[in-house]
Amino acid sequence: MIPVANPKAQNTAIREEISAALMQVMDSGQFILGPSVSALETEVPKVCDAGYGIAVNSGTDAIVVALAACGIGPGDEVITTPFTFVATTEAIVIVGAKPVYADIDPKTFNLDPAKVEEKITDKTKAILPVHLYGQCADVDEFAKIAEKHNLKLIYDGAQAIGSKHNGKGIGMYGEAATLSFYPTKNLGGCGDGGMVLVRDEELAARAKSIRFHGMDATYSYQYVGYCSRLDEIQAAILRVKVKYIEQWNAARAANAAYYIEALSGLPLQLPVPAPENYHIYHQFTIRFAKRDQLKAKLAERGVGSAVFYPSPLHLQKAYLNLGYKPGDFPESEQVARECLSLPVFPELTEEDRNTVTEAVKTSVAELT
Ligand SMILES: Cc1ncc(COP(=O)(O)O)c(C=O)c1O
Repeated sequence: MIPVANPKAQNTAIREEISAALMQVMDSGQFILGPSVSALETEVPKVCDAGYGIAVNSGTDAIVVALAACGIGPGDEVITTPFTFVATTEAIVIVGAKPVYADIDPKTFNLDPAKVEEKITDKTKAILPVHLYGQCADVDEFAKIAEKHNLKLIYDGAQAIGSKHNGKGIGMYGEAATLSFYPTKNLGGCGDGGMVLVRDEELAARAKSIRFHGMDATYSYQYVGYCSRLDEIQAAILRVKVKYIEQWNAARAANAAYYIEALSGLPLQLPVPAPENYHIYHQFTIRFAKRDQLKAKLAERGVGSAVFYPSPLHLQKAYLNLGYKPGDFPESEQVARECLSLPVFPELTEEDRNTVTEAVKTSVAELT
C-alpha cells in the first residue's frame, strides 16, 4: 500500500546525519532551549522570510503563544475558519478568547475574506486564517481588512513552511505566523515541536517570555506564561532536516504537477493554486462527490488516502457551545463531505505516482 504520508522514508535517507546530531546532544548534557534551539531559531525564519523565530513544543502552542503575545485574551473575538485541524480553534479558547467562524472558499479551502468582514463586531480583535494544505490564504485581502478595522492578523502556517505569496514566505504576512513540526509535516521532527514567526522585535521578546513561564529574567515573571520549550533533541533533528526543506517542497510540487496533468479532465476538483502562490502541497486534496467510495476503491488498488477533515469544527461536540448549527457554513460542510488527500510526499517514486493516477482514473470511471 502506498501510504498517504511516510515520515520514516525521509528519516531513513538521512539516518547517519540524524544519528550524529543526536549523539552530539546526548554528549552536550544540555537538553532544553540550548544551542540547537537557538540555531534553529535563525535557520527556520530564513526559509519563511521572518525576522525572528520562537521555538515551542508544538504547533498548537505556537498559536497559543502567538495569540497571547499579541494580547488576545478573555472578552476578545477571533475570526477563523471552521475547516481546519482542531488546534486552530482550540488555541483561541485556551487564551480565553471566543472563536467566531466565517466560511471558506470551496476552491482553495482557505478562509474567504469576503465572508470575514460581515463577522466583525466591536469585540473582534484578530483574524486567524490558516494556510491550509500548504497554500497561502488570501494574504492581500486579509491585510486590507485588518488595517481597515485595526485588527491583529495571525496566520496558522502549521502546514505551510516554505509556502510563498508573490515570492515572499509566510513570515512576511500579518503580525505572526505559526509552524508545526509534527512528524508528518513538510518539516517534521521525531516528536512534537512548533515555532512562532514574527518580524517585530518587541513581539518576539514577548513571545519568547510567554513560552517560558512569562519569565523576563531569572525567576522574574512579567506575564502569566506557558511551559512550552522545545527540546534540543528535536531541534538537532530539525536542523538536519531544514537543509532539505526546499528540495522536499519542490519534490512535492513536482508530484502535484504530475497529478494535475494526469488527472485533468476527470469529473473531480483538483487543487487550484493561485498564480501568485507557491503551494508546497502539505496535502494534495481533491474533491469528489462519492468520496468514501473512491477512498475504498483506491485502498483496494493499493493507494492510501486520507480525509482532512471529515467534519467542520462548528459541528464538533466540544465547540457546540459556540452556538452554531448544521447549514451555518455550507461550503465547509460540503468540502468536509467531498475532500480526499492523495499521497504526495517527496519520496514517492515514478512508479508510485503512476499507480496513484491510474487508480484514481479507474476508480473515478467506475463511479461515474
Ligand atoms: C492547520 C494546523 N494547525 C495546527 C496544528 C497543530 O500542530 P501540532 O500538532 O504540532 O500541535 C496542525 C497540525 O497538526 C495543523 O495541521
